[in-house]
Amino acid sequence: MTKVLEFYKCDDCRTVVMVTHSGEGPVMSPKGKPLRLLEEKTEEAGLTEKHVPVIEKTANGIRVKVGSVTHPMEKEHYIQWISVKKDRNLYIHALRPGEAPEAEFPVNDTNVKAMIYCNKHDIWTNKK
Ligand SMILES: [Fe+2]
Repeated sequence: MTKVLEFYKCDDCRTVVMVTHSGEGPVMSPKGKPLRLLEEKTEEAGLTEKHVPVIEKTANGIRVKVGSVTHPMEKEHYIQWISVKKDRNLYIHALRPGEAPEAEFPVNDTNVKAMIYCNKHDIWTNKK
């Protein structure tokens, strides 16, 4: 059974899909292979770079930064997107290599769920 806002990844082609409507599943690749559910991680054990989103208030909303230590933003290893879920709204900001691993959202609440996707270390969140 899939759930809304779950993410699945094809480890062959590296495609990531988001569930927008729950269903029986499993989520399959075009070649018939089940995609891997990306578990939302919150612990930094064993990694030197940090991934857990950090939220701070700004004049226009909130800024989400990736980790307490700046994450690499190189082509082979970078944060591809940052998202914030607030009530019935989902904000997603796409990033490119070379950009800062952060994004600002028009949300007036720092007590929200933020998620980031690292192309090497998958999905991380500040709360489950
Ligand atoms: Fe990473």
